[in-house]
Amino acid sequence: MITLKSPKEIQKIRKSGKVLAECLLSLEEVIRPGISTWDIDRIAHEFITAHHGIPSCLGYCGYPNATCTSVNEVVIHGIPDRKKILNEGDIISVDICVTLDGYVSDSTRTYEVGQVSPEVHKLNVVTRESLYLGIEGARKKNARISDIASAVFRHASTENGYGVVRDYTGHGVGYDVHEDPEVPNFLSPMIPNPRLKPGMVLAVEPMVNMGTWKIRNMRDGWTVKTADGKPACHWEHTIAITEDGVEILTEI
Ligand code: MF3
Ligand code: CO
Repeated sequence: MITLKSPKEIQKIRKSGKVLAECLLSLEEVIRPGISTWDIDRIAHEFITAHHGIPSCLGYCGYPNATCTSVNEVVIHGIPDRKKILNEGDIISVDICVTLDGYVSDSTRTYEVGQVSPEVHKLNVVTRESLYLGIEGARKKNARISDIASAVFRHASTENGYGVVRDYTGHGVGYDVHEDPEVPNFLSPMIPNPRLKPGMVLAVEPMVNMGTWKIRNMRDGWTVKTADGKPACHWEHTIAITEDGVEILTEI
């Protein structure tokens, strides 16, 4: 069931999203060669609680940490680890949900650790662009979920030849981490395609692989890697559909 949020409720998600945006921005200063994914998680966790938020991923479906830290060929849900130290040339996506005053926002960025190869940098740029193009798709008159999906897919796959992950999608968000509707990054007749309506709050999140779109699930029950071991990027914003248009809630 898709829930519509009132302007007052969207205001609360906006506040949650602001803390989350500031948290992700602050990580730019600490993500460099030598830091562990565990320390990144700890810094983000402290930032969120210092701003009166709750890290909503911690304990969600039994997830053990505040953040998902996915390095190189890890697409999503990488678990922070004291022994996983970042090296020059790595990429890491940090995916965080924040609950503030009962309302949830969800955002992800892929960071480049020092200097990365031109190929990896391009993957990251195109993934970020595909997020913003997907959000532009939502701004079309009488837009549907498929307008987001087709804009992401066209840029990432059709125009740039990357693999767009099909096993995971974006989602509604706000009362809970995952709500209806599904927000895929590809077109599928199997996925409901509602029209966007004022009050919908959506997490748009392209997951884009340099090679194949296929993924492998690791035996820890969380970590998702590319099937071919090539790198993947992930960018995500929480957006609200309002009477005035589309607003990004996780951007400062
Ligand atoms: N932010 C993630 C998403 O968009 C949710 C992570 S759930 C967790 O799907 F349990 F893995 F943390
Ligand atoms: Co999400």
